[in-house]
Amino acid sequence: MAAFRGQHLGELLLASMLQRGLERGAQWASLEVRVSNLPAIHLYEKYGYRIVRRKMAYYLDNNEDAHWMAIRPLGSAYAEFLAGRVVSLRQHVAWQDDFVERSLP
Ligand SMILES: CC(C)(COP(=O)(O)OP(=O)(O)OC[C@H]1O[C@@H](n2cnc3c(N)ncnc32)[C@H](O)[C@@H]1OP(=O)(O)O)[C@@H](O)C(=O)NCCC(=O)NCCS
Repeated sequence: MAAFRGQHLGELLLASMLQRGLERGAQWASLEVRVSNLPAIHLYEKYGYRIVRRKMAYYLDNNEDAHWMAIRPLGSAYAEFLAGRVVSLRQHVAWQDDFVERSLP
């Protein structure tokens, strides 16, 4: 939702998702992102994702290329980094319950 961008919600979602993956034994993580999506690419790079390769015409709606990005390995140091980020972000995003209430139909 555009009105909620830039308030660290995307980062909290990503960090929490990666934390869940680690807890379940994930050793690496990957994703595809539109090459034009600079906000998302910056977010993923902040979390250690690096571009592995370009997937040509990956998106069917406009034939845009994707960057395939990955983090490997997801070790204990990375788990500590994530735990610190999630604690900090949860303090920063102090109005999570209010956000959920306002977002529900
Ligand atoms: C990409 C997206 C999820 C980021 O979520 P967000 O809540 O707006 O971003 P956050 O406030 O959590 O920002 C976290 C980091 O993302 C990056 N970022 C976010 N917005 C950015 C922007 N406009 N330009 C550059 N980098 C940006 C920065 O690295 C930022 O860290 P910083 O504040 O230390 O600089 C959001 O823009 C979005 O929902 N976009 C539309 C859907 C989408 O593109 N999803 C991803 C598909 S692969």
